[in-house]
Amino acid sequence: MTTTLFTNINSLVTNDLSFEKGLLGEINDAAFIEEAGQIVWVGSSASAPSADRQVSLKGKSVIPGFVDSHAHLVFAGDRALEFEARMSGSSYSAGGIMTTVRATRDATDEELDQNIASRAVEMYRGGITTFETKSGYGLDVENELRSLRLAVQHTEDVTFLGAHVVPDEFKGRADAYVDLVKGEMLEACAPYARWVDVFCDEGAFDYDQSKAILQAGIAAGLLPRIHANQLTQGRGVELAVELGCASADHCTHLSEKDIELLAGSNTVATLLPGAEFSTRSVYPDARRLIDAGVTVVLATDCNPGSSYTSSMAFCIAVAVREMHFTPEQALWSATLGGAKALQREDVGSIAIGKSADFVVLDAPSFRHIPYRPGVDLVEETFISGTSIYRSNK
Ligand code: NIG
Ligand code: FE
Repeated sequence: MTTTLFTNINSLVTNDLSFEKGLLGEINDAAFIEEAGQIVWVGSSASAPSADRQVSLKGKSVIPGFVDSHAHLVFAGDRALEFEARMSGSSYSAGGIMTTVRATRDATDEELDQNIASRAVEMYRGGITTFETKSGYGLDVENELRSLRLAVQHTEDVTFLGAHVVPDEFKGRADAYVDLVKGEMLEACAPYARWVDVFCDEGAFDYDQSKAILQAGIAAGLLPRIHANQLTQGRGVELAVELGCASADHCTHLSEKDIELLAGSNTVATLLPGAEFSTRSVYPDARRLIDAGVTVVLATDCNPGSSYTSSMAFCIAVAVREMHFTPEQALWSATLGGAKALQREDVGSIAIGKSADFVVLDAPSFRHIPYRPGVDLVEETFISGTSIYRSNK
């Protein structure tokens, strides 16, 4: 097998604590070797063993590929007018989801597949190397199943979100819809999903409905995660911890009790700065969570309603500026943190035995990501040691 040495890296984020170089295991004047898609050696340029091929990255920096643990990529249409109305004073509600459901139901398989592929390419160009995607814009058996069947062609982290909102045709009959989701819909969808998710919030599903759906998903062999406490200080986080969800996502409105519960659990809190940005909502304070001992993760929440960005760099910049992440914490949360939210051991760090998923930045270090907001710093993205995007700047 060919070995490739990437060397003369000004700043390398390994996310490997064994280097005893802070949270990020940042090594300067660093090098690493890739073989057969995996990292096989990491250290300083000066001590690097020889390899079959050598790539010098003088002056550039390398980070692990971003792991986007929360996205909604299976949809058609957009909601630019809804965004415009919000920026002119109206507020966000879960109800807008139905606009996208109608467009998604009307789309052909080819259109939906092309939409997922286009957003995935955007992600790769921005340095995301692993992403999760949810269903949730089908909301009937046929269209939820179709969404998941298409999604599995693009990622192994596929989430069944039949419980996104109660669709119009079940208006006033939410419990009948919950029965459908945990019955026939789950049965059809479970073979295509790794995860089950519920939007537990005002205008979506309450604690009891969410619990019933997540429990049915768990019984069908899916792993639970949840949209919690985005719009109100409800009981979503409480449920996440009770059911051992991998992640409670949004966490915009948290009580002290919620924070205590998260800190004492294995459930990570995934913050989604794009959602607060695009709905003009108050940002949660990451420092409050981190100081309490909660594992905090960052993701894009890419979706046409509340956060139509596929840029993790943008999310990091907003997280640092508005949520009080340090640049170091934000980078960790968007890489190894994302891997933890997806319970993935193979990605999120540049360490021996991990998948060689990494990003070459045209910048001296990762600090330039929040320091240079809106500037595309990604020079090249690698997945399993293979270049999948190279900037032609
Ligand atoms: O994560 N909160 C629920 N779901 C999405 C929004 C979906 C939409 O508005 O289309 C979210 O923000
Ligand atoms: Fe979401």
